[in-house]
Amino acid sequence: MQQTPLYQRLDFLRESIRNLRLTGSVAPSSQFLCRAIVAKINPEKAAVVVELGPGDGVITRYILERLHPDARLVIFEINEIFVEKIRATFDDPRLLVIHDSAEHIGRHFKALNVEKADYIVSGIPFVVLPESLTRRITLECRRWLRAEGRFIQFHYSPLLIPFYRRVFGNVEVELVPLNIPPAIIISCEKKE
Ligand SMILES: C[S@@+](CC[C@H](N)C(=O)[O-])C[C@H]1O[C@@H](n2cnc3c(N)ncnc32)[C@H](O)[C@@H]1O
Repeated sequence: MQQTPLYQRLDFLRESIRNLRLTGSVAPSSQFLCRAIVAKINPEKAAVVVELGPGDGVITRYILERLHPDARLVIFEINEIFVEKIRATFDDPRLLVIHDSAEHIGRHFKALNVEKADYIVSGIPFVVLPESLTRRITLECRRWLRAEGRFIQFHYSPLLIPFYRRVFGNVEVELVPLNIPPAIIISCEKKE
């Protein structure tokens, strides 16, 4: 059954309160943030897209709308409630939902015979995670992106911009004020 936006927000809030440290937000991303994120995906170059930390799938829906019928979207989520919700909401053969931490991308890519991702979209709240875990996941993202692929991350603070610049050697930043709280999108190209 399709939920109304209000019920969707309440479900998300309940999960946030239960697990604020890993959820990192009290509301799902706004339509403005979702649209600005997916605008950075060129569907002509997006055969394999990865989404990390999809929560209840608010950005997932926009990504699927943008992708070609033969593209694939592989998502990694550690919260079982969100995983179940996404599995119940989306009936799309392009989507593969993995209930595991983003640091294990490589293990799953090898098992799936996927060579590289063209885009990695992430909503993982790295600002509140241990630095070592943030580093491990981000380095895995760089490793499993194809050359000229893009890592697209949103945050509510500019704190980690210098970190992404060190990892990828380049950073583009876009402010999205119409979100609770206002967000920035960080987009980095994989250079080889
Ligand atoms: C800020 S919420 C973003 C939810 C949704 N993408 C949105 O834009 O509203 C962060 C999500 O990242 C997930 N998460 C946190 N650490 C993770 C990890 N190591 N691997 C995969 N997902 C993780 C949380 O469970 C949560 O669903």
